[in-house]
Formats: sequence, C-alpha cells, structure tokens
Amino acid sequence: MTTPHNGGDFLADLRRRSLAEDGVFRLDGGLLAVFEPAAAREVSRANWQGLVLADRFVDTLLRRRGTPVPWTTVRTAWLTRLHTLGTAEQHAALIDRMRESLDEHVGDDVDLVMLAQDVAVRSVLPVVLTGLTERESARIREDLDQKLARLIDRHPGHGLRHRAHFTAVQMRAGFVVRRVLRERASGRRPREQDLADPFVDLLPVLGMDRALDAVTAVLTAIGGPPGSAAASVLYEFARHPEWQDRLTHELRDVDLGLFTATPVKAAPVTHRFVKEVLRMWSPPLLLMRRARVSMDVGADRLEEGQGYLVSPHMVHRDPRFWAEPDTFDPDRFLPGAAHGPADRTHYVPFGWAPKRCIGADIGTVQLMALCHLLCTRYRLTVPHADKVTMACRFAPVPQDFRGRLAYASDQDDPAAAPATAVNHSPDANAGASCPVRRANSTSPATWRGPSE
Ligand code: HEM
Repeated sequence: MTTPHNGGDFLADLRRRSLAEDGVFRLDGGLLAVFEPAAAREVSRANWQGLVLADRFVDTLLRRRGTPVPWTTVRTAWLTRLHTLGTAEQHAALIDRMRESLDEHVGDDVDLVMLAQDVAVRSVLPVVLTGLTERESARIREDLDQKLARLIDRHPGHGLRHRAHFTAVQMRAGFVVRRVLRERASGRRPREQDLADPFVDLLPVLGMDRALDAVTAVLTAIGGPPGSAAASVLYEFARHPEWQDRLTHELRDVDLGLFTATPVKAAPVTHRFVKEVLRMWSPPLLLMRRARVSMDVGADRLEEGQGYLVSPHMVHRDPRFWAEPDTFDPDRFLPGAAHGPADRTHYVPFGWAPKRCIGADIGTVQLMALCHLLCTRYRLTVPHADKVTMACRFAPVPQDFRGRLAYASDQDDPAAAPATAVNHSPDANAGASCPVRRANSTSPATWRGPSE
C-alpha cells in the first residue's frame, strides 16, 4: 500500500482517527486499520500461525496438493545462518563494505537518500547472496533499485510499459538466483556462507520455485527498509548537532574490537540514537496484509480474505503510549526513563512475530556503524539541515536532502600524500565549531575483529 502524495496529511488523518477510535477502525474501502499495539500483535500472531509455503508450480499445474512446507522452515534456515553471520569478523567485513561505498562519494555533492541506499544495499547484499559475477550483481541491483523506486519515488511508474519493464527486470534477477542455486547444488559454484545457501540443501524439499521465493523475499526485504532507515539516520544526525557531539564523544574512543563484537554494549548512546531514529521513522510506514483466517479484532471482525493495515509508525507516534511522540529524544530509551516505552508492544520497528524481521540485528549494526563512520572517518556537511523536511511515502523520505562528505583527516584519505601534505581547500579548517568536523579519526582503513 502506498500513501497518497500528501502522505503527511494522510498519516495525520489516520492518527486522529486512531486516537478517536482506540486504534482499530475501518478505512474507506473496508480495510481494517489495526494500530492498537496489543491488537496489532495479536492479529499478526493469529494471521500467520501455521503459515505454509504456496504449492510448487508443478503441483499447481497438475492440480494436485504438494507436501505442505511450513514458513518456519524458511525462517529457521535464515535465522540459523544469520547466527553464524553475527560475528565480530562478519560485522567488520560489513563495515568495510560500507566504508568502501562511502569512500566513492567523498568530495561530491550527493543526494543523501540515494547515498544511504547505496551504502546499505551494497554492504548487505553479500550477506544475502555472494559470489556473483559483476553482471549478475548488476541484474540483482537493477531489480532492487526498481523496487526501491516504488517505495520512495513521488511518482512511481505505472502503465503497461512500466509494468512490462518491471517484470522483465524482476525475471532477469530471478534467473540469476535460479542459476546460483542450481550451480551450487551441482558443485559448479562453491557453496557460500550467505542467506541463500541453506536453500541449496532444501531444494529437494522446496523445489526451485519455492527456493527462489525464499531468496527473493530476503532480497526484496533488503531493498527498502535498510536504506530508508540509513537515510533517516543521516537526517536526524544532520539536524541534531548536540547528538553529533554525544555520538562523537562515545565513538571516537570506542574499542573497535568490542564495537564489532557487541556494538550495543560498546556504544549505548549510539544505540539509543538509532533506536529513536527507528521509532520516529519506521519503514515501511504502513503494512498491508490479507486475513488468512477470520478473526475478531477488538470490537470488529476480520473475515478471511479481507485486507488490514498494521504500522510500527502508528504505534510509535501514539500519544497514549509515548510522551511527546513527535519529539526526537534518544534518551527516552535510557533504562527506566519516564517517557520511554512502557511495554514491549509499544516499540516494534521490526514488526511482529511470527513474521518479525529476521535482519533486526544486522540492520541495527549497520545503522550504528554508519554513525561510527560519520563521527570518525568522515565529516558530513548538509547546508540548511534544519530546513530539510521528511516526506511520508511508502517509507519516510527526506526531501531535497543533499550534502557533502569529506574525510575527517588526511589520515583517512587514501589519496592524500603522507604526513607533509597540507590541505589548502578553503574549508579545511572551517569546522572548528562542528563536533563532527572536530572528531579525531579513529576509523581504521580496514576493520578487524577483536582477535586481530
Ligand atoms: C533497519 C533495517 C530494517 C528494518 C527497519 C526492517 C523492518 C522490517 C519490517 C517492519 C518487516 C515486516 C515484519 C512484519 O511483517 O511484521 C520486515 C520483514 C523482513 N525483513 Fe527486515 N528490516 C530491516 C533490515 C533487514 C535486513 C538487513 C534483512 C536481511 C538481512 C531483513 C530481512 C527481512 C525479511 C526476510 C523479512 C520477512 C520475514 C518474514 O516474512 O518472515 N530486514 N523487516
């Protein structure tokens, strides 16, 4: 579901109704909005309980019932693999990839929404699917880019030609995934430690179509929220010099080994900042679902097949559960803070069980790492940051959000001459009052795990 062009008004209207009608109400057209936290949790639980994958294509064609495969099989495969990918070494590699893509944009006047997207997707793609040729990688990226456009563009394309192009790009990406799975299964490609690999072993159970669906589900999931959340981190970072100061103070001295191993423990202030960004700007803003079974929701009833809406954003901005919900204040996440979440159901940036986001940990590490890089390796300049506004489309999108990244010091600049180099650029020392500019560089050229 996309919000209309004046998404802000649309959401404001939903908020008004949600307050007046206790968080559960009908929209024009019959969709049931379920924004009350406990009801949202309950509807998700009831709706997805016992979910099985769609039948294999061949079974559908032959009009026979295949062996049902529970969705939990897919989630277990993802989560088991993610467990092995959550190490300090893997985090360091992720941060290295983020650094590489940020380095490419240093010195340019860039659209920060697209920069955030590029950094988030390029760094996380190898976690999902790795060992691709350049051409294969480009095909996957093309598909992710078009899906992103659908989420953030003011005028996402439509019409027959657009749909045909969209489908063609999607199919080309699908062919890449099929080929990778097939070749890994036959030994023509090495097995990899990515989220696609468990489905090679599951091919006999799932068949190729369903294995492709499982891999595509993660690819689609990394195309939107991680980049959107990264753009929101840049947005709040640029608008809050006092928080730049606090983050810099924490991050310039953080033990890098500890940060890659246990970032939340190593950098609690940064973690609070990221949590608050995700509270204020949870992507996607609205999640449209279809009822698989009939159920009561509050005083209303959802019949099988009817649509309903849930929304972390609506829960996070509800003044019944959050004090001053429109104020950016990471300290509300301090333990015991009076204006913090009173209940776990009030903070749900990664959705609800049993479909809760599997990438919550890696997504959090990525956002914290972005803060680290911004406070140590780079300095970010955003002219008139206080004037930048957020548009609410399918996801929050900062408007006309442009800026420039520079290296915080010559030490970080791979192109800079050693020691004797003098920076003659007009703004070389102009940042004395900006904490980000003052930051000592503690960002190594390459990140390593604690053992190194
Ligand atoms: C800050 C970054 C991210 C945010 C805010 C986010 C948010 C979400 C949300 C709201 C959902 C829907 C949950 C529901 O339906 O209740 C979701 C699902 C999902 N996310 Fe994320 N996500 C992020 C990063 C990631 C990453 C990095 C990955 C992969 C490595 C990922 C993989 C998935 C998958 C596979 C699902 C579908 C789960 C299922 O259907 O069982 N996400 N995410």
